[in-house]
Amino acid sequence: MTVAFCNASIEAFQFAGIAPPGPTRYVAPMSLYRLAWPLVRRFDPETAHALALWALRRRLVPARRPRPDPVLRRHVLGLTFANPVGLAAGFDKDGTAVDALAGLGFGFVETGTVTPRPQAGNARPRLVRLEADGALINRMGFNNAGATALAARLARRRHRAVVGANIGKNRDSTDAAGDYGACARVLAPLVDYLVINVSSPNTPGLRALQDRAAVDAIAAATREGARATRGDGGPPVLLKVAPDLTADDRAAIAACAADGTVDGLIATNTTIQRPDTLRAPDRDAAGGLSGRPLAPLATRVLADLYRRTGGTVPLVAVGGIDGPDAAYARIRAGAGLVQLYTALIYAGPGLVREVVNGLADRLRADGFTRVADAVGVDAASHEAPA
Ligand code: FNR
Repeated sequence: MTVAFCNASIEAFQFAGIAPPGPTRYVAPMSLYRLAWPLVRRFDPETAHALALWALRRRLVPARRPRPDPVLRRHVLGLTFANPVGLAAGFDKDGTAVDALAGLGFGFVETGTVTPRPQAGNARPRLVRLEADGALINRMGFNNAGATALAARLARRRHRAVVGANIGKNRDSTDAAGDYGACARVLAPLVDYLVINVSSPNTPGLRALQDRAAVDAIAAATREGARATRGDGGPPVLLKVAPDLTADDRAAIAACAADGTVDGLIATNTTIQRPDTLRAPDRDAAGGLSGRPLAPLATRVLADLYRRTGGTVPLVAVGGIDGPDAAYARIRAGAGLVQLYTALIYAGPGLVREVVNGLADRLRADGFTRVADAVGVDAASHEAPA
């Protein structure tokens, strides 16, 4: 993204007549991102993010794609993924740069969270860097342009990577299930999967929707909405859960997945916990914590859900995955697919290639010929969260 910023700066200088005109595109090694980090961090994090998305849209971010590798090809949820490494929800909520993001080498891109009606989200500042910890705290509050705007953009996408839409409810809505159903109706024809997000800590009351009765109602409304606009019975529906669930909550969620109420689980969203290891001065900022300090908790929740579902349910791991070792460990803990977000902010777009290629190397080194054979091999060795 710094590369994007550099390219954008060159363009601006050209516009102002300071730099000679000419192509601004150049391929820079990933280390340039790290080199230019002191510049990036001078921007407020949300502004830096908006700039990155703008640069991606303008194709100013060089795409050093990972090598295609049959060992990484996945068949899960009735879908085929070129590799199991995806972009987590929240990075491109409104689907403004899906083709460019897929072009970085992601096996899948999750858009959203969107709500039926557009909403502004919480007041800024609402995104805080915890640089010393490789973490972020966000309290965005589902700022988004609405499901219809996302649908219009997805209708124009060209890339063949798997694309999902993560859906939520408007902050002021009194009919949660109705909101999920409305989003599904609009988006189902345009996506490969849907995600019910009931785990963001930034919409009051949302996480209470992780109980069995609420999930049943929301999943039913989502499937009904999807079927209304898509002839094939609708796309697979996944449920994204919080890392802060109690053991009883996790048992209920696992049961929902095991009995087919939902087709898969995404573990996890951000946490409201603040691990003792946090060193950054803003550690107590309000919101959900993501990034490296979330990894141990997210891994334990994932492995617990894997054990509770006996490995029968597709699980997507997210939370603190910051390199090929973490991605591989999460697959061994039970994930069929993995996603990242925060590490991308600190490491830059070259991280996608590093994780995808590194994952293939690690699978091969351990004698696996396909991802599926590595899924869950270490699930028993992770202690369940309290
Ligand atoms: C998120 N995340 C998120 N998740 C979701 O389901 N819907 C959303 O709209 C958002 N928005 C969002 C914004 C920001 C700024 C961040 C940092 C995160 C959560 C995200 O998808 C992921 O679950 C967590 O961030 C944990 O993964 P990482 O970031 O540790 O790789």
